[in-house]
Amino acid sequence: MIETRVLKPSDAALYEAAATLAAGDLVAFPTETVYGLGGDATSDTAVARIFEAKARPSFNPLISHVPDLEAAFALGAFDARAHTVAEAFWPGPMTLVVQRRDKCPISLLASAGLDTIAIRVPAHPLAAELLRAVGRPIAAPSANPSGRVSPTTALHVLAGLAGKVSIILDGGPCSVGLESTVLDLSGPIPSILRPGAITAEMLAPLLGDVKAAGSGTKITAPGMLESHYAPALPVRLNATAPEDGEVFLGFGGVTGPTGSETLSASGDLTEAAARLFALLRVLDRPDATGIAVAPIPESGLGIAINDRLRRAAAPRA
Ligand code: TXA
Ligand code: MG
Repeated sequence: MIETRVLKPSDAALYEAAATLAAGDLVAFPTETVYGLGGDATSDTAVARIFEAKARPSFNPLISHVPDLEAAFALGAFDARAHTVAEAFWPGPMTLVVQRRDKCPISLLASAGLDTIAIRVPAHPLAAELLRAVGRPIAAPSANPSGRVSPTTALHVLAGLAGKVSIILDGGPCSVGLESTVLDLSGPIPSILRPGAITAEMLAPLLGDVKAAGSGTKITAPGMLESHYAPALPVRLNATAPEDGEVFLGFGGVTGPTGSETLSASGDLTEAAARLFALLRVLDRPDATGIAVAPIPESGLGIAINDRLRRAAAPRA
């Protein structure tokens, strides 16, 4: 066990967090999507610490975070398509998978031995400042024990990883609330490996048709593992009302009895995405038998919300 400290943002906190990362230790930090569990992406030891802290199956590769596009171009081979998409959506809630460059300094453990690499330039100002201060790529999966609900506040991180991370930078709640879109541009056909706030419709004007991840294909991203993002309670989808013992998560006009929560009373998908993971935690109550969730429209951001909900509801290993 190590001592875990939660630090409010300040110059001193950033300096300390950067020094901690440079020393090979772990720092959790906010991005606009979810909190990340960061470690030096160029250090096998630091990357191994991340896998250990999360109890993550090591075949799941990690995203390398960098402060700007130049730093991203130094790690991966960006063709014209990748350049265009990077310029349009970075910094932001999007991860690009491209071929590793020769002499790419990222630990092979971080990319799980693949010859491709996942890179992201996050937009959150604290993340950007931290990445600039540390001056090297930071590998960061979501800062939660593997398979559980991703954290959207510093307290969520503390609940899952106390004793396993040195510093948690507290940047308040994440504005997007769902993990980044993972877009694979390493082959000829652009393919979304994990849906997120940057949708296929938003990418189409730049890329033409984009292949959406289907289930039943081989695992190329842990977003494609069956059970993921799961609270302790079983989850039941497309429910119009709770059954005996269940708690209810509503959306739009579909609301439950007293004690229920709602993703967005007005049916706003952006608000629903930002609140999803926090409300799954609130409703994960030991006195209940399950969480029933109202239907969410399968369009726009609803595609990413339903993706996370289906994994939360999937049969547990
Ligand atoms: O929003 C996010 O993406 C957050 C924040 C912290 O940046 N990070 C995150 O990381 O969700 P993680 O490790 O939970 O998910 C990384 C995703 C996984 O689906 C992984 O399989 C995929 O990216 N990935 C990483 N490297 C890859 C590669 N070389 N090829 C294909 N998929 C890759
Ligand atoms: Mg994750």
